[in-house]
Amino acid sequence: MVKNIIDVRNLSKSFDISSKEPGLKGTIKHFFQRQTKSIEVIKNISFEIKEGEIVGFLGANGAGKTTILKMLCGLIYPSKGSILVGGHMPFRRKENFLKKITLIMGQKQQLIWDLPPIESLYLNASIYEIDKFETKKRIQKLSEMLEIDDELFIPVRKLSLGQRMKSELLAALIHEPNILFLDEPTLGLDVNAQRNLRKFLRKYNEETNATICLTSHYMKDITSLCKRVICVHDGSISYDGKLDQLLKKLSPVKHILVVCRSEKDATKLENSGFTIKNKTNNEITIIVENNSTTSSLKKILNNFDIEDLYINEPPIDEIIGRILIKKNYDI
Ligand SMILES: Nc1ncnc2c1ncn2[C@@H]1O[C@H](COP(=O)(O)OP(=O)(O)OP(=O)(O)O)[C@@H](O)[C@H]1O
Ligand SMILES: [Mg+2]
Repeated sequence: MVKNIIDVRNLSKSFDISSKEPGLKGTIKHFFQRQTKSIEVIKNISFEIKEGEIVGFLGANGAGKTTILKMLCGLIYPSKGSILVGGHMPFRRKENFLKKITLIMGQKQQLIWDLPPIESLYLNASIYEIDKFETKKRIQKLSEMLEIDDELFIPVRKLSLGQRMKSELLAALIHEPNILFLDEPTLGLDVNAQRNLRKFLRKYNEETNATICLTSHYMKDITSLCKRVICVHDGSISYDGKLDQLLKKLSPVKHILVVCRSEKDATKLENSGFTIKNKTNNEITIIVENNSTTSSLKKILNNFDIEDLYINEPPIDEIIGRILIKKNYDI
């Protein structure tokens, strides 16, 4: 049986924020007597992640995804509940724990701006006590996987966003962590760079069996990498399970556009018992349940004279948009 590498129980996190009454009076009062109030941004969540899993955290802006990842890395400590990551309590930041994990944030950089990445890489490696020979070997392997080369010798400030992100990734993986926390790693990258990064992550996961926790607002990242998603809604978990099951539940139908040879055929199809979405001349769109797609297609092809056929599913972004605003799913 695959063991749990992350175990989160009844986790909550509150932040103290200053609370000022509106208006000038409020400002003066606040100046002399600072008022704070506590807001709970993570509310009693529990989940487990198995070794080698790739899990996507989905949620609207401000839902709490980054806060969860920060707690899993030990950057901030929980207000309530317990977290075990690779058998460690993250907020203790023990050396053995730090050697196992890495955090990559699309909007933050850890490479030194004026130096070429290669120098930061050797510096990082020495922090993790990796010798020069081993460092060279790892850089070679990772740069091959990431398809970067000359860029490592150019100062970071001169690199494009995509080149910088690859270098960031290399730096974050130099100590060969087996748990990766990625907070919007593809932010701002062009479609090809996003695709390459996803390809790299999939390969890294396959080759090393690393566990990956990922947040992204690009749905392609989630659909192409994560079999499982955890949806976060206002600090609570609204769904934890298979992505395809969630999508099926939220989009139980397909639209089939049928182009008939003549308008007469289209009219015949219109009156044959299918649910019709619309019809114009010889084109007709019918709605079928996901589980009867094959039988419907057979029926259409066997009984009607068809010129062409298109099967459309609702766009994934539209479905995910619905996920983000929902509080609960019973699947
Ligand atoms: N240090 C902090 N002090 C006070 N409030 C905070 C702090 N960090 C986060 N928050 C609040 O916690 C909530 C969750 O923030 P978080 O950054 O985790 O959201 P998110 O799901 O990552 O959103 P996004 O998709 O925009 O990145 C927000 O309301 C945010 O304002
Ligand atoms: Mg965030």
